[in-house]
Amino acid sequence: MNVGILGSGVVAKSLAKGFMKHGHMVMLGTRNPAKLEDWDWENRKGLVGSFAEAARFGETLVLAVKGTAAAEALHGAGITDLAGKVVIDATNPIAEAPPANGVLHFFTTLEDSLMERLQREFPAARLVKAFNSVGNAMMVNPQFAGGKPTMFICGNDEAAKKTVTGILDQFGWETADMGKAEAARAIEPLCILWCIPGFLRQEWTHAFKLLR
Ligand SMILES: NC(=O)c1ccc[n+]([C@@H]2O[C@H](COP(=O)([O-])OP(=O)(O)OC[C@H]3O[C@@H](n4cnc5c(N)ncnc54)[C@H](OP(=O)(O)O)[C@@H]3O)[C@@H](O)[C@H]2O)c1
Repeated sequence: MNVGILGSGVVAKSLAKGFMKHGHMVMLGTRNPAKLEDWDWENRKGLVGSFAEAARFGETLVLAVKGTAAAEALHGAGITDLAGKVVIDATNPIAEAPPANGVLHFFTTLEDSLMERLQREFPAARLVKAFNSVGNAMMVNPQFAGGKPTMFICGNDEAAKKTVTGILDQFGWETADMGKAEAARAIEPLCILWCIPGFLRQEWTHAFKLLR
């Protein structure tokens, strides 16, 4: 599968590594390809382009940019190249303010998540929330003494969620489908919870598991 990843940060690079490890072709998209020269050199199979080029390249896309820039990045990708494609939304709506006692601030509300806003603005894209509730170092085939961790996902398109579940299977996760886009109101704040032990105690190596 060809995967277009919109982003040049640690999440984009970690997921790119994971997709390549599992035999997929990857293009990272950025406003400034020069900043990925080293990555391009070290990952000879990986490609680098603009947001638009990455969107055109990918049969499946990943959105891995700063939450405040998510809509801008999708506009850069272009409505035509988003249409009909699965877009794995790894973003979190983190506001530009320091955490309060380890608790991040969001620019969204509990009645309107970032993914819902993006899905309204880009109705032809098939957004699926995933990978936002764990640190980038644990996104691909993480090993925990407690067993396989759970990735919470949601989105309006059932087939798109099936595609993402297949990717999560490859990446060593069990998937918990929480339903339609509105569930992002609950999944995005998991990022706040995940980060608290990190900010308070420098503990950044955990993941969530849903016990049944
Ligand atoms: N860090 C983690 O472990 C982690 C874990 C789970 C989820 N997340 C979420 O994943 C997303 C990516 O996180 P990250 O830490 O890898 O990177 P980041 O530092 O949050 O974002 C970097 C990316 O944002 C893009 N960007 C910034 N301002 C922009 C603008 N005005 N217009 C268009 N693009 C802009 C940059 O594009 P250029 O390449 O063009 O500069 C770059 O690709 C975030 O939403 C974050 O909350 C992070």
